[in-house]
Formats: sequence, C-alpha cells, structure tokens
Amino acid sequence: MDQNQLKELVGREAVKFIEGGMIVGLGTGSTVKYMIDALGERVKNEGLSIVGVATSDRSAKQAESLGIEVKQLDDVDHIDLTIDGADEISDDFQGIKGGGAAHLWEKIVAINSTKNIWIVDESKMVHTLGKFPLPLEVIPFGSTHVLEKLDKMGLNPAFRMNGDEHVLTDSKNYVIDLHMGKIENPAKLAETLNGIVGVVEHGLFLNVVNEVIVGRQDGPEVLH
Ligand code: 5RP
Repeated sequence: MDQNQLKELVGREAVKFIEGGMIVGLGTGSTVKYMIDALGERVKNEGLSIVGVATSDRSAKQAESLGIEVKQLDDVDHIDLTIDGADEISDDFQGIKGGGAAHLWEKIVAINSTKNIWIVDESKMVHTLGKFPLPLEVIPFGSTHVLEKLDKMGLNPAFRMNGDEHVLTDSKNYVIDLHMGKIENPAKLAETLNGIVGVVEHGLFLNVVNEVIVGRQDGPEVLH
C-alpha cells in the first residue's frame, strides 16, 4: 500500500469508533478527509445520527456536502470524540500538528474533547519530534519582529508562504515554521513559545491524544 492507501485505511478504521448520538470533532488534513468521506457513507447508508464540530472551514464544507450536520464549537456543550491527523508522533505520544495550518482550531477542539484519536500512516511515527518543521500561528501585526526574536533564539524560523503571499489560517493569521531538526525537550519549548507575545498557538500537542491508529502494511494498529 502506498501512503494514501494507508491514510484511507486508518480513516476508514477510525469511523468504527463513532457511535450514534455522538458529538464528533472533525480534524483537518488529507488523512481526515478519508475519515470524513467514510463518516458520510455511514450517515447516508446506516442513517447514523451524529453532530460534527469542524477544526477548519474546509473540513466543515466537506462534511456538510456529505450530509453530516455540523455545529460551531460554541453551539455544543461538549465533544465526545475528536478524530484528527498528525504530522509527527513520538514514542511517548506527543505530537506535532499544523502542517495544514489548522493547529489553533484543532487544539481548541482537542482540549474540549473527552477523547482524542489521531490517525496516521506509519511514516508519521518517530522517536524524537522535530524533523517536521514546528508550525506557529502568529498575529500578522508585528510578525517580522516575532520572526526575528525566534531567529535570535536559534529556532530557525521561516514564514510559510504561497509564492509571494503569506499562507493565512482560518483566523486570518500567518504561519511561521520552526526548522529545528530535533526537539530535545518539547515541554520546555512549548513553555517558551507560550510566552512570546504575538504567537497565538504552536503545533506541539503534548498530553492530548488518547489513542493512535497507525496505518501499517499489514493493517491498522491501535496504540493506547
Ligand atoms: C493540519 C494538521 C493535520 O492533521 C496534519 O498536518 C496531518 O495532515 P495529513 O493527514 O494531510 O498528513 O495538523 O493542521
């Protein structure tokens, strides 16, 4: 199986964890896209009744186009289960997210969820985080100064661009990626980044996930 087939495999596996009546957080990304497709099939074919809370405008749009009811986070009082992708997951279940520039909404939905499941192909499982550049969502106002500060700290930052244009998040903020290669102490780095004015949120998801479904050549593996 190639990477896309592994993504589809875990996307399809994940919807087995969804039960009627649940409020379900819908993550963002190419793996989650398969999950939302499979969820749409269950809604259509089995009459499964759930409410989705999306972590991005594109996931909301996809879900609605498949007949899945979508509500805003502020219009629900809880989320039973969120299923999301990840860019890297370390041996101790810490993650980097935000490759799709959605990590701010993803983190807000995740911390308001009773349970979080991540779905990934096996290439995302790593010993140490950091090979994948760590995304930060930053306020555009003063962002060059934030970049400079991060540079002086040796974090190797770069604005995420689309040609000459800044990539914009759904909240209309910019993204800075930290090309660090290796993150020795994710908790310490998270604390440092939380203290920088102008950084809205970073893509380190520490102690967030409950289960990971990994797509392997011999089938999906559920890790607790
Ligand atoms: C978006 C994310 C995604 O979950 C992450 O980038 C994984 O994406 P994909 O499934 O396309 O590899 O964090 O902000």
